[in-house]
Amino acid sequence: MSEVAVIGAGTMGSGIAQVFAQAGDTVRLIEVSLEQLERGVATIEKNLGRSVEKGRLTEEERRAIRERVVPSSDVQDAEGAQLVVEAIYESLDAKLEVFRSLDEVCLSETILASNTSSISITALGAATSRPDKVIGMHFFNPVPVMRLVEIVRGIATSDDTYIRVEEQARRLGKEPVEVRDFPGFIANRVLMPMINEAIFALYEGVAGADEIDTVMKLGMNHPMGPLQLADFIGLDVCLDILKVLHDGFGDPKYRPCPLLKQMVAGGRLGRKTGSGFYEYPM
Ligand code: 3HC
Repeated sequence: MSEVAVIGAGTMGSGIAQVFAQAGDTVRLIEVSLEQLERGVATIEKNLGRSVEKGRLTEEERRAIRERVVPSSDVQDAEGAQLVVEAIYESLDAKLEVFRSLDEVCLSETILASNTSSISITALGAATSRPDKVIGMHFFNPVPVMRLVEIVRGIATSDDTYIRVEEQARRLGKEPVEVRDFPGFIANRVLMPMINEAIFALYEGVAGADEIDTVMKLGMNHPMGPLQLADFIGLDVCLDILKVLHDGFGDPKYRPCPLLKQMVAGGRLGRKTGSGFYEYPM
């Protein structure tokens, strides 16, 4: 690809924009909130600055990568992109609206990808006139570090779209894994029940948060314990994904723990709010 657009400049969107710019693409980073757009660009600048300090990038490379990221608040600026990656918050209605707009704005050959963690790619495709060119490209946080991309094929996604997106993921230095479009795909279908079970264990008083995380870190070699990871992902995001699993499969094994619901209702969303299962001085 030579021109890519990323919709949404939150943690995931800015990370995705960074990795495409590092691979040599011009990236339109499109975000309606100017404050969020500034934060997203600042995160990219901070990450690139750290890479220069660590000797992984020269100053010249840093400047060139930064210049390839073009911030914008107008979705119309996606019109020249060969690939668009949507990375807004997890709301079906909001994503459907973005996909309808992109379908109008973009060239008919443009591939429209979503970084959704659990929403149906098939439903997003059906909102467009090009369901064969709609696909999931699910990155992991922190995007510049994590190697996996789940590539999700909706019911109508063509082989050609899949092959092109798989090539792009490899070009970014990522390892693509092909999955079919069922709730939570693979990553969150396996991860979220583990996180939810850890929250149930805390809720039932089996052990404290630190103890639960220590068991999984030292006993299972996970880099973060499940409660620490839930705080890192965002407890609201975890709850949304569990709801998608619960609704999608109709199986009570995915019911979100009442403690998780309570913490989200109380605005304790993890790292981003300074408080979750742990405290994060801001
Ligand atoms: N952005 C960019 N780079 C980052 C970063 C960030 N936010 N956070 C850490 N890094 C880099 C550091 O610069 C460092 O790079 P270096 O080794 O080249 O110097 C490297 O990552 C390791 O960082 P640290 O030494 O500071 O810390 P750790 O060794 O503890 O690693 C971690 C941090 C990579 C976040 C590690 O704890 C980890 O892998 N945690 C699990 C992350 C995970 O599971 N992510 C998936 C979440 S699920 C998801 O995203 C899907 C969604 O749908 C829910």
